[in-house]
Amino acid sequence: MAHASGPATANLISADFFHSPSGVHYRICSENARVWLSFERPGDSAVNGKRELLYYIGSGHRGLTYLFARDGFLFESPINWYGREQRWDMAPAYQKADEIPLNLPVVTSCLRCHVSEMQAPVKGTENLYPRPAFLQPGVSCERCHGPGAAHIAAAHAAPAQIAGDQSRIVNPAKLSPELRDAVCMQCHMEGKVAIERAGRHAYDFRPGESLSDYIRYYVPTWPGPSAHSEGLTTRGLTPFVFWSSIPTWVLPKTCCGPSTARLQVVLIDPSGFRRRRVLNR
Ligand code: HEC
Ligand code: HEC
Ligand code: HEC
Repeated sequence: MAHASGPATANLISADFFHSPSGVHYRICSENARVWLSFERPGDSAVNGKRELLYYIGSGHRGLTYLFARDGFLFESPINWYGREQRWDMAPAYQKADEIPLNLPVVTSCLRCHVSEMQAPVKGTENLYPRPAFLQPGVSCERCHGPGAAHIAAAHAAPAQIAGDQSRIVNPAKLSPELRDAVCMQCHMEGKVAIERAGRHAYDFRPGESLSDYIRYYVPTWPGPSAHSEGLTTRGLTPFVFWSSIPTWVLPKTCCGPSTARLQVVLIDPSGFRRRRVLNR
């Protein structure tokens, strides 16, 4: 997880990719210790340009994308590296695009799981970040252990007493099951829809706190054994990792026969508070 993000120069995968539906030729290469994305449409002199790529997101094992800035606003590169197939292609959902998607904003709900010490975007904007947009690459110690400054200060002040004193640092293993799972869920839980609570931001969550004070997850479930796999999107982890705090419901047969599948939205609340709603009733 330490390699989940960083400066583009630290993880360069060069590209030479022709996208047939748009007729655009993309290249990614390094020049004078900087990384560039260039694009041109052969035979159409109006379509060409280049952007400096600032950061990478994703180790490349499964995939990777780069980010660039325009007047300080952060955008995702139109092309992505697909690790399993070992090839470049358009960003997801743009495979058939006939233009160049240069306006994919990098919102906080994209950055918060991949970087550490993200700097909040300028108020009133969704993707205008201070530079650098984050102070630590990848998943830092503090994402699972909380702020460490008090712990370090105490260690300097009284080195002999710090061993075993965990009052100033979070050890996830010592938290209650809900709070412990929340440490991983902040990045490994997606839900079908995730809604931040009014006035709160998921990126302000700190280990040891209740995730549900910041964000609520909703997942649809259907009757039958597929309910889990269809409903929960736990990135990279099986839902059973979170068994202790995530309940599942199965619709009663009378409500929902095979031909009249209705969407049931279940609120997954990391604090253990459980509720369900049936839509289209
Ligand atoms: C809820 C947290 C979360 C959000 C939001 C999120 N990601 Fe991820 N992402 C993950 C996790 C965890 C993985 C690794 C497991 C997996 O591949 O499912 C991952 C995997 C990836 C990978 C492949 C990484 C590799 O190691 O090869 C890329 C690329 C990526 N994400 C980019 C993005 C982009 C771009 C956005 C914003 C549009 C985004 N992610 C939003 C958590 C998140
Ligand atoms: C992805 C989450 C995560 C990250 C990132 C992480 N840790 Fe941990 N760490 C844990 C968990 C969970 C435990 C408890 C393991 C157990 O006891 O089963 C732990 C335990 C520890 C312990 C042992 C505490 C004790 O008293 O037993 C130390 C020390 C520690 N981590 C230091 C670090 C440092 C330093 C970093 C950064 C280089 C780091 N951790 C990054 C999750 C993480
Ligand atoms: C700050 C966000 C964050 C936190 C907190 C976090 N992870 Fe991750 N985790 C990621 C990302 C991002 C990846 C993708 C790896 C990469 O790109 O380097 C990942 C990858 C993984 C993988 C490898 C998955 C795969 O398919 O390759 C496992 C397993 C994992 N995390 C477990 C955990 C556990 C257990 C915890 C809690 C102790 C945890 N993570 C906490 C963000 C996080």
